[in-house]
Amino acid sequence: MPGNTLLNGNMRKMIIVETPEALAAEGARLFAEIVACGVAANTMCAVALSGGSTPRKMHALLGREPYRSRIPWNRVHLFWGDERCVPAGNQWSNYGRAREDFLDYIAIPIENIHAMPGEVPPEEGALRYGKEIPEVFDLILLGMGTDGHTASLFPGHSALEERRKTVIPVEGGNPDIPRLTITFPVIERARNVVFLVSGREKAEPVKSVLKDHDLRLPAARAVPSEGRLIWIMDREAASLLPEEVINDQEHH
Ligand code: 6PG
Repeated sequence: MPGNTLLNGNMRKMIIVETPEALAAEGARLFAEIVACGVAANTMCAVALSGGSTPRKMHALLGREPYRSRIPWNRVHLFWGDERCVPAGNQWSNYGRAREDFLDYIAIPIENIHAMPGEVPPEEGALRYGKEIPEVFDLILLGMGTDGHTASLFPGHSALEERRKTVIPVEGGNPDIPRLTITFPVIERARNVVFLVSGREKAEPVKSVLKDHDLRLPAARAVPSEGRLIWIMDREAASLLPEEVINDQEHH
């Protein structure tokens, strides 16, 4: 669509698929492709996983063949873009869900799994994790809430203006519990930022971000400076985008 910076050139792509299952398949395919490039270039690659429910189908695919064997997990370092400050066993733990969904099924060295420290005081956890994450991520996976938040960067929150720290503690969200989140400078340095967005309830914020460029929505500001930005959506989530945009995109 003319003038839509999110769609210009091959560094800004929108992929629309038919169903949540196709979304998971496309996400897993792209995950494997980006990891393969990352390890070819640097022997190791760093990925930040997203929390929430949308990525869980993709995570399940990563824990099964062919990705279980195809991805060189020993050369992948897994991090999180945000985490709820709870122990791993808590139902709200993004790490805990990823463990259940795929980490327990892949041959990844334990030292390659960098969970956000949810069990220490948030300030201390943020400081510690800020030192643990890489300068540049090969891939940051993100979701978007119905309010347009991404990671744990919520609309109107002072965290949106943080330009120095890489990980900070925040309050808010659903559940409204203390969280840790990466900040925009980390997202801006990434080589690839991939959004996975599914469902009719996300159609309004998708339109606000991708058509209206409403920068009040944090997801609209999650744009890599030089890296690739890809939005993978199912048809429901993309249903309020103009027809010409939907017809213009890659369909899988
Ligand atoms: C979190 C997530 C969050 C998530 C969105 C979308 O920890 O809550 O990182 O940013 O991506 O809230 O969540 P759903 O995928 O569950 O809709």
